[in-house]
Amino acid sequence: MFKKLMSKFSRDVGIDLGTANTLVYTPEKGIVVQEPSVVAVNNKTGQILAVGNEAKYMLGKTPPHITVTRPLTHGIISDYEVTEKMLKYFIDKVHDDGHSFMTRPRIVICVPLDVTEVEAKAVEDASIAAGAREVHIVQEPMAAAVGVRMPIQDPIGNMIVDIGGGNTDVAIISLHGIVAWKSSQIAGDEMNKSIVQYAREVFNLFIGESYAEQIKKKIGSAIPMNERTEFPMRGRDVLTGLPREIMITNEHVYEALERSVQTIIDLIKSTLEITPPELTADIHERGMLITGGGALLYGIDIAISEVVGIPVRVSGDPLTDVVRGTGILLDNLELLKEVELPSTRNVK
Ligand SMILES: Nc1ncnc2c1ncn2[C@@H]1O[C@H](COP(=O)(O)OP(=O)(O)OP(=O)(O)O)[C@@H](O)[C@H]1O
Ligand SMILES: [Mg+2]
Repeated sequence: MFKKLMSKFSRDVGIDLGTANTLVYTPEKGIVVQEPSVVAVNNKTGQILAVGNEAKYMLGKTPPHITVTRPLTHGIISDYEVTEKMLKYFIDKVHDDGHSFMTRPRIVICVPLDVTEVEAKAVEDASIAAGAREVHIVQEPMAAAVGVRMPIQDPIGNMIVDIGGGNTDVAIISLHGIVAWKSSQIAGDEMNKSIVQYAREVFNLFIGESYAEQIKKKIGSAIPMNERTEFPMRGRDVLTGLPREIMITNEHVYEALERSVQTIIDLIKSTLEITPPELTADIHERGMLITGGGALLYGIDIAISEVVGIPVRVSGDPLTDVVRGTGILLDNLELLKEVELPSTRNVK
C-alpha cells in the first residue's frame, strides 16, 4: 500500500540526453519534455538565459555577451557545467508542481554506444548533481529496442540502427546483450554541414546550419526523386558579402547528402560483417529497424535495403523510441538490471 502510494508520488524519470534533442519521460505523464539540447548563457554573469526551443531560436543571432551552446558533441558531454544546468532545468520543469516534499528522482538515462567509462561517469555525475538520487545508464540503441518492444530477451538477432544528430549507432542485440556494434559520427548534424558546404561550393552562398537543417527536412532525400521540388535558400553571397536568395532543388540536396548516406550504409555493412553467422541468418529474415531523427530522411530505408539486401523498417516514431524505452525500464526493474551498464560511481 505504502509502495503503491509512493509510486503515485514517484518522481522517477527517463531521459534521452541527445546531441540534438533531450526528452524526458515520467511514468504518470509520458513524454513531458521534447526540446533541443541547446542552452543560452550570459557570459558576463554566467546566468542561463534560455534552454531548449527558446535557446535554439537564438542560435547564430546573438550579441557578443550571449553564447548559445549545445553542451553535447556526438552524444558525449562536452560542457559539463551547462549539461548539468540543462538537466536540472528539464527535471525541475517536470516536477514543477509544488510537491517539494517528494523524494529525489531515480533516473534512467542513455549514452551512445562508444562512450568511455569516464564519459559515462560524466553523465552519471551530471544527473546526480541535477538532483537524481539513483542513476541507471543504458546504451541508446538498447533503450530504443526496448522502446519499440523488440524481443531482445530471445536468442535471435535484433538489429537496430539509430541515426541521431551526432552519432549513428548500429547494434545487433540478442539475449539482453549487444553482440556486435559499430558507431560513426556521421549522422544528422553532418548532413546539415554537407548542405552548408554544398551551398558554398556550388552557389557561393553562406548559409547557417539551422537553415540547412530546415532544407534537409523539407526536400532532402536519400534516393533520387522523380518529381522536382524547390525551396528558397537565403544566405550571404561569398563574393559580394550581400544577402542573396536562390532556389535549391531536391536534386541538389540529394547530391549534398549522398556521401553521408553512403557512410551510414557502409557502417551497416561492416557491422553485419562482424556479426556471428547464426544471428546474420535471423537478420536476413527479420530485417532491421531504423530509428533516431535521421530515419525520417526520405528514402533512407530504400537506399539501405537496395545495397544491403535485407528488409528495412522505419520506426513509427523515431524521435521518441529511446525515451519511451527508458520509461518501460523504469517500470520493469528486472529488465533494467539485465540491460543497464554497471555504475561508474567509483571510476576516478
Ligand atoms: N524529417 C527529417 N529528415 C531528415 N532528418 C531529420 C528529420 N527530422 C529530424 N531529423 C534529424 O534528426 C536529428 C535529430 O535526431 P535525434 O533527436 O534522434 O538525435 P539525438 O538523439 O539528439 O542525437 P544523438 O543520438 O546522436 O546524440 C537531427 O540532425 C535532425 O536534423
Ligand atoms: Mg539519440
